[in-house]
Amino acid sequence: MDKRGLARGLVGASAILLAVSIASGCGTVGLSEAGDGNAASGEALFAQKCGTCHVLADAGTKGQIGPNLDDAFLQSRADGLGESTIQSVVRGQIEYPVKEPSTGTPGMPGPDTLLPECAEGREDEPRGCVADQNEAAEDIAAYVASVAGKPTAGTPASGADPGGSTPEAGAGDSPDGEAIFADAGCGGCHALEAAGASGNVGPSLDESKPTKELVIERVTKGMGAMPSFADSYTPEEIVAVADYVVSSTGGR
Ligand code: HEC
Ligand code: HEC
Repeated sequence: MDKRGLARGLVGASAILLAVSIASGCGTVGLSEAGDGNAASGEALFAQKCGTCHVLADAGTKGQIGPNLDDAFLQSRADGLGESTIQSVVRGQIEYPVKEPSTGTPGMPGPDTLLPECAEGREDEPRGCVADQNEAAEDIAAYVASVAGKPTAGTPASGADPGGSTPEAGAGDSPDGEAIFADAGCGGCHALEAAGASGNVGPSLDESKPTKELVIERVTKGMGAMPSFADSYTPEEIVAVADYVVSSTGGR
């Protein structure tokens, strides 16, 4: 069970597959064994924890911060990589993401940020916590492996182009701040109760209650780990998302 101790010695991308099969730990079943992880419960977790940053057609998510996961695994499938291999890769990514890419672009938060474990009996439960981090990660990996890069039966994620075009609204309507908040992946990094968002890479917007001016400033220019969205959204759209954040947090 002391997967972290073991894992710490094994950093580096080439060690991921090995590390993952060791980290799965307690039993004889390796991660690459199909049947590990429950894809059904992984689906809901994915939408909540990962979809804010990743496109995945089956889940209907449109996050743009990280790579499109359908695209990422399309080639793997074409190359004949099995589902269990893809599952191991996803599991490895959750455990050992590139948190600070050398390019300076935002990275992917680590497992303790994305899937914090609930601390039983404590009052300050981490937001959006899970009962068992390893199990949650297994479930998500099983789900992603079962759907990524496959044609979906449902409606395709149409608004998934990185051009950041306005989410389809009736002609003449002003931009929909709530839809933009979801589309831009703000919730992957920020908590905002009204949006069901529990990200904790950046400050909780419920707590910081930013002014409209501050939201516009940050979204337009970015700061630190927060990217600028000026290339993805028009000034009108940025104002709309600012209005949405401010009205959702009871601010001015
Ligand atoms: C805050 C945004 C964010 C969240 C939330 C997030 N990711 Fe990522 N993800 C990224 C970024 C940025 C990258 C690219 C950098 C890297 O490789 O680590 C990435 C890369 C990946 C990759 C590698 C894709 C490739 O092309 O190789 C996978 C797989 C992945 N993420 C899965 C997940 C899963 C599963 C979750 C939920 C547990 C998740 N991500 C949550 C931002 C995020
Ligand atoms: C990749 C993670 C990430 C994403 C995506 C992101 N933010 Fe941020 N955001 C941060 C971080 C980190 C900070 C703190 C920056 C600092 O002060 O150094 C921040 C700061 C802010 C602040 C200032 C909060 C305060 O009180 O200081 C606002 C407002 C904000 N973000 C809104 C948004 C909105 C709206 C979106 C979506 C359009 C968004 N963010 C997307 C990471 C992110």
